[in-house]
Amino acid sequence: MRVSREEYQQILESELHKTCSEKTVDHALKPRNMGSIEVASGYAYITGPCGDTMEIWLSVDNQIIEQATFITDGCITTIAAGSMITEMAKGKPVEEAMQIGQQDILKALDGLPEESEHCALLAANTLKEAILDYYEYSRDKWKRNYKKQW
Ligand code: FES
Repeated sequence: MRVSREEYQQILESELHKTCSEKTVDHALKPRNMGSIEVASGYAYITGPCGDTMEIWLSVDNQIIEQATFITDGCITTIAAGSMITEMAKGKPVEEAMQIGQQDILKALDGLPEESEHCALLAANTLKEAILDYYEYSRDKWKRNYKKQW
């Protein structure tokens, strides 16, 4: 039996509702800030313990994160975590965004199933690395030209 795209979407949504909060389902199915930033001020690519990866790009102006985007090859809850953390980081001073941790993401998503809580850790670690990358190059921007490109 063939399942249409709409039917598949409905099945996925009702399956997700069995284990995930409304907010998680919303961010998982309608992820915000997906994609890359061509000329980023900060970037990180992290592989989590499960083997899934996340990339985060930051656009920073005057110490404020103006834009944050992500891409992941992880599961649906990783997509929700990437969507939420980029929303949380936008508009914040880099120093404040550096404090966003796994628990903050879990709280903002109204929790994740226990077996998926590490997805929020992957998102938090990737953001921290992207901010560290920003700090590394913020003083000597020209050095980025000599960094291996992503
Ligand atoms: Fe690996 Fe979500 S299952 S990050």
